[in-house]
Amino acid sequence: MSISFSESETRQNLMRAFAGESQARSRYTIAAELCRQQQLYALEAVFTFTAGQEHAHGALFWKQLQPSSGTQVPLQADYPVDVTNDVSQLLRQAQQHEYAEAGSIYPVFAEAARQEGFSQAAALFQSVAPIEQSHGDRFGALADLMEQGKLFVSDAACGWMCLNCGHIQESPEAPKTCPTCGHPQGYFLRLELAPYTLPQRAGGCTGAGARGRPAGSIRAAGDAGTGPPVRRSASRFHGKNAGLPRETGALFGVLF
Ligand SMILES: [Fe+2]
Ligand SMILES: [Fe+2]
Repeated sequence: MSISFSESETRQNLMRAFAGESQARSRYTIAAELCRQQQLYALEAVFTFTAGQEHAHGALFWKQLQPSSGTQVPLQADYPVDVTNDVSQLLRQAQQHEYAEAGSIYPVFAEAARQEGFSQAAALFQSVAPIEQSHGDRFGALADLMEQGKLFVSDAACGWMCLNCGHIQESPEAPKTCPTCGHPQGYFLRLELAPYTLPQRAGGCTGAGARGRPAGSIRAAGDAGTGPPVRRSASRFHGKNAGLPRETGALFGVLF
């Protein structure tokens, strides 16, 4: 089927996508501010990081609308209202919206664009969908941790990173204050979810990241900030499932 862009469903879908991405960016920026107020600084970083990616998606869809520049696009669409101070609820709602984009909305938009002959738009919807899936996985895993009261506690020894100074230590619980920089516990994130952590170092208290981990170096609680890192064997981490959701393991290396 060949159809003019101005009369196409794809034009409307691109505007729907731009509006959806813009709103997601705003929702996550507002959520980040809320996390900061609640001293959940690592979650603030996650929301801010994801908001930046939604902005990038929005800009990509926006550019596809260039042939209609100077016109108005009338829309009928549903957009979510998630107004709450409950961060775990915000994470869960964000997960659901991301999965909706990944599983139904963008695949449908991609197919419509293909049928209308807009291959670039189709490819873009197709490319963004799995990114939204990873956003949903990330939010869902963090929602699980919050709901289980395990954002800063693990059933087994776990690597933790302070997102302010990069201090790393191994302990069942993230320190109340960072031994290196003094920032509060809210800056700590499980090492396997921390930014730019190499897979062989991240290990993990979920068991998922531990497979194939070579003998690594990580500071144990009490060793923090002084002396050489304590070397531990990989076997220490094997099979130490901390009761985390499977999704958390799947997030290994993709959070940031
Ligand atoms: Fe997005
Ligand atoms: Fe997303």
